[in-house]
This record gives sequence, C-alpha cells and structure tokens, in this order.
Amino acid sequence: PSPGRLAIRAQLLGYDGNPFVSDPADCVRHESDGLILVADGRISHVGPYVADLVPPGVELHEYRDALLMPGFIDAHVHYAQTPMIGAYGKQLLDWLETYVFPIEQRYADPDFARAMARLFFAQELAAGVTTTLSYCTVHPGSVDAYFEEAARLGLRAGAGKVLMDRNAPEPLRDTAQRGYDDSRRLIDRWHGRGRLFYAVTPRFAPTSTPAQLEAAGALFAETDGVCMQTHLSENLAELDWVRALFPDALDYLDVYDRAGLVGPRSLFGHAIHLSPREWDRLAGAGAAVVHCPTSNLFLGSGLFDLRRALIAGNPVRTALGSDIGAGTSFSPLATLNEAYKVAALRGEALSAHRAFYLATLGSARALYMDDRIGRLAPGYEADFAVLDLAATPLLRERLRFADTLEEALFVLMTLGGAGCVRATYAAGRLVHDRTRSDASAQA
Ligand code: GUN
Ligand code: ZN
Repeated sequence: PSPGRLAIRAQLLGYDGNPFVSDPADCVRHESDGLILVADGRISHVGPYVADLVPPGVELHEYRDALLMPGFIDAHVHYAQTPMIGAYGKQLLDWLETYVFPIEQRYADPDFARAMARLFFAQELAAGVTTTLSYCTVHPGSVDAYFEEAARLGLRAGAGKVLMDRNAPEPLRDTAQRGYDDSRRLIDRWHGRGRLFYAVTPRFAPTSTPAQLEAAGALFAETDGVCMQTHLSENLAELDWVRALFPDALDYLDVYDRAGLVGPRSLFGHAIHLSPREWDRLAGAGAAVVHCPTSNLFLGSGLFDLRRALIAGNPVRTALGSDIGAGTSFSPLATLNEAYKVAALRGEALSAHRAFYLATLGSARALYMDDRIGRLAPGYEADFAVLDLAATPLLRERLRFADTLEEALFVLMTLGGAGCVRATYAAGRLVHDRTRSDASAQA
C-alpha cells in the first residue's frame, strides 16, 4: 500500500460557486459515479470513475448507494455544553443561569474536559462534520482538551477560551488582563499548529466589561488568521440588557464594533434581531453571521432572516451552526431540515442546493477558508462525509420517487439526520466508519 494515498469511488456532490447569487446549475459539481484521489491529506484528482486512473498499489474505498460530499462545517458550537443538550423550559438568559453556567464550572477539571472533548468529536464525526469552531469555557484547560483531541483526529478545527469578566458566577469569571494573558498563551500554543486555529471568544456583550471587549479587540488585531466569535442579537430580553449596559452604543453590533471586533474572520452567532444598519455594517466589514436554527427554535429566540443575509443586494457571509447545547442535533442535515422550516415560517423556501452549499463551501467562506475546505477540488483538504442513501427503508424507498438530483437532495436533508452518515474522512484518513465504530462513535 502507498502511505498517504487513497482512492474513493462514490457518487460525488459539491459546490464550486454560491447558489444564492448564481444559477445553481453553474455551482454544483456532481458525478453519479465519481473518483477522488487523495495524496498527503489533499485531493489530487476529482472526476468520473475510470479504473485506470487508480494508481497501482493505492487502496480503493468503494461506496454504493452513497453520496460523498465535502466534510460538513459546524461554525458555531459549544463543545462544553454536550452534557446538557435538551435542557427543559427556559429562554436564553434563564437557560444560561440554570443549565449552562453550572455545567461549565465542571471544566475546571481537565479530565472532565478531555472526556467531553472525546464525546463531542465522536458525535461530530458521526454526523459527517469535519470542521468545528467551538466555544470552550473560561478555563484554559478546556481549550487544551479540545485541541488535543482535534489534533489526534487530524481535524481542521478552531476554538477559544471564553472571556467573561462580569454577570457570571465567580468561578467562571476572569478579568480583562487575565483573559488577555490566557488567550495569548493559548494562541501561541495552538494557533497554526497543524490544521488548528484560534478564535478570540468574548461570550457576549453582557458578560464582558468594555475593558475586556477592548482586550479582545487587541488580541484579534494582533495575530494573523485568528478568528473572533461571539453572540449577537439572539433574544429580545438580551437586546434590552445590552441597551441598558451600553447606553452609548448605536446598537448591539456597535458595542462590538467600538472594540475592534467587527471585520473579516469575525463570526456572530444567531444575528436574528438586527437593524438594517447592522446588516449593512456586517456586509461592509466582511464579517460573518452563523445561522443556528435548531437552537433558535429550541430556545424560542426567533426566525433568522436568510433572505436579508444571503440574497439581498449586499449579502453577508453566512455559516451554519449546531449551537450545541441550545441546538438539539449534531447533524447538519437535521440543522438544514430546521433551517428549511425557519424559512418556511417567514414565507420563504430554502432549496437543497443552497442548503448543502451553506453547510460546506458557504461556511468555509464565512471562515475565510474557502481556499482549502468545503469543496471537492484538487488541492483542497481531503475531508469528506459519505452519506448512505439507503440508510433506512423509508429513505431508500422515498428516494426512488425523486426524479431529479435536487429533489433527492431535499429528501435527504429532510429525512437523513446523523443516522445516514456511512463514513467520515479527515485529511484523507477514515475517522468514522459506521459499520465498524458505531459503538465508540455513539458512546
Ligand atoms: N449567548 C451567550 N452565551 C450563549 C450560549 O452559551 N448559548 C447560546 N445559544 N447563546 C448564548
Ligand atoms: Zn452559542
């Protein structure tokens, strides 16, 4: 066998362009019987299957009744909240106090953090997700646990230590200076190591003083390629609180803008209740928003405006997120299924091509990583999700009644869920195989 080399035969689907602004037919790349060659963790060839193209000695993985796509991206998630998914009965601010702050205190224990990082990545891989951008907790050890596991799996992954210096329980608070110093050390340790990247992570405006937001802005400005992630306009009570805490700001986004936190590589989770000014500023700054529909429905936060985000004259880079533990599924298919329903409640329709673009190349673009992940093209990192089109009798039979590719994709996103992921590859390595590692992945 040739080390570092691999060939995969499957039906292939990916996007080379943005179907929100261009004709989907010009954006989609589809091979009903395709071949991908991988060398040294990257795609070296994509095209129709031709037996002679598989170099001698290279292992061939063949998938029947399956669709291979670029590995999915989960651009907004809290790995530390994995053990409290599905917490009953509250909206955002009460939910944070009642459920989130207690569980996050457990991450003072590095063993607990390591166990949860393992559980978290097993779930993401089982859902076909190969790139995650996660919040950790205030504890630097929670970041080490996350990056150690991501490195072990060879994933492209980002994360950051949560910054919180007010309006949180004492054990979860840092200070502007300590948050800066801890983040600085973590950036030096992890950013740019292998495929890992750091994200400066003020939780949201209410839990940081202006001084801490300034310090976050300095960190964000100091290091090339570092991301910034926070929450923006998720819940109406949160908006009232931000107005009371920052009476001088023009609006919620302006709180972040004044601290230098709005620009390329800043990612704002939720972005539901925004003014036209905030949308225009996000677009102009090259910043991104992350749509988290299962979370927004679960916490009753509101309905994301996909039309303004992506179809308007000046669209905003938009990614997709599970927002675990307010989100209720690791599966991007389940997330897209809910995104469709959120659009439906606004009188709109999210097409399958646009949906799958959002979970792949669209999210890569929001991260400014669309030159390396999110596409099936030579030179791109070999991260793949292989979806089983016969995962359940219902899916298999329903797909027989789908006449077009787009109809089949729409059925897949409606019925598929995490259960349809047959295999997941990261940098050309098989990191999840449902037929072999069900037990460990689901554990
Ligand atoms: N806003 C501030 N913190 C959080 C969080 O942990 N989850 C969600 N959904 N919103 C937040
Ligand atoms: Zn969140």
